Amino acid sequence: MAKVNAGILATGHSYPKGILTNADLEKMVETSDEWITSRTGIKQRRKAAPGEYTSLFAVQAAREAIERARIDPSEIDLLICATVTPDQILPSTGCLVQAELGANNAAAFDIAAACSGFLYGLSMANGLIRTGQARCALVIGAEVLTKYVDYTDRSTCVIFGDGAGAAILGPVDGERGILASRIKSDGRFAEHLYAPGGGTRLGSTAETIARGEHYFKMKGNELFKVAVRSMTDISREVLEQAGKSADEVDLFIPHQANQRITDAVANKLEVDSSRIYSNISMHGNTSSASIPIALDECVEAGRVKEGDLILMASFGGGVTWGGVLVRW
Ligand code: ACO
Repeated sequence: MAKVNAGILATGHSYPKGILTNADLEKMVETSDEWITSRTGIKQRRKAAPGEYTSLFAVQAAREAIERARIDPSEIDLLICATVTPDQILPSTGCLVQAELGANNAAAFDIAAACSGFLYGLSMANGLIRTGQARCALVIGAEVLTKYVDYTDRSTCVIFGDGAGAAILGPVDGERGILASRIKSDGRFAEHLYAPGGGTRLGSTAETIARGEHYFKMKGNELFKVAVRSMTDISREVLEQAGKSADEVDLFIPHQANQRITDAVANKLEVDSSRIYSNISMHGNTSSASIPIALDECVEAGRVKEGDLILMASFGGGVTWGGVLVRW
């Protein structure tokens, strides 16, 4: 019997209509378009309106992927929603999305792996499909990060944006689909990017909110160094696992954290700019949504052809990182 991998059968994405430009941020904090562009590559990011929340975008992205895969939601038996900005503490955003979609035969749950969440989800879906425990998986990365951003802190407020991306996976023959995947974390660096408030330790009280403890805190400089090292290493690991070289990669889709991180990783891997996808100027860092949004934009633009070798690598709070190599 032919070896079975999980293949990405269709993708979709969604984001809020609201746009926050660098010019808008110049009016809010002491910053400049020049600083933001040269340090990050970001020109604008999408921002959810007060009544908008994570599952709204997750459902829109999922519906697009489901439609393109020409499946009925009832066929989905695994629904993984990667998010660190869930609608609420309980139940999981995955379950809320499940109900909205009518994907009533799925096991639905969330993964909290920050920007690596989508690749964690692909990796888990691959494992469950390969072992016959799932046949039709929906993996979503969805975030409304801007609700956890302190718009008086110029070091974080320029970075983050909102959106969602989704992929439908199913079994394909062993020459295609996910050829290799690897996920890792190191909790010793937890305080490089974290939000201390809102959980069982500090709770959410008038005091924690007044102290801004529900907002993201970030050691950008420290993250930068770990991000470049870990994304480079994990990319090499998955390439080696599949017996491929960076020369063979047709498209490199890194987590869109910072253009300088992307350039540094690509430089170390010796992947030239024509093979890298970047949308950071338009979206900023959308955490777990960044890779699936980018992937779907590539599909829509015809940048992904059957047989292409696609390398995806991510890095995020936790810290977490991951790599997935796909033969399209
Ligand atoms: N505008 C103007 N000046 C600023 C701004 C701003 N928005 N933000 C910081 N500065 C200032 C700092 O105060 C500092 O001033 P000082 O020298 O007088 O002290 C100076 O700019 C340099 O600050 P650095 O933090 O050293 O700037 P750096 O070049 O490292 O860029 C950045 C900061 C963009 C955050 C970068 O470190 C980065 O992108 N790091 C990775 C962050 C990341 O990827 N985070 C997400 C992880 S993914 C996830 O899990 C969601």
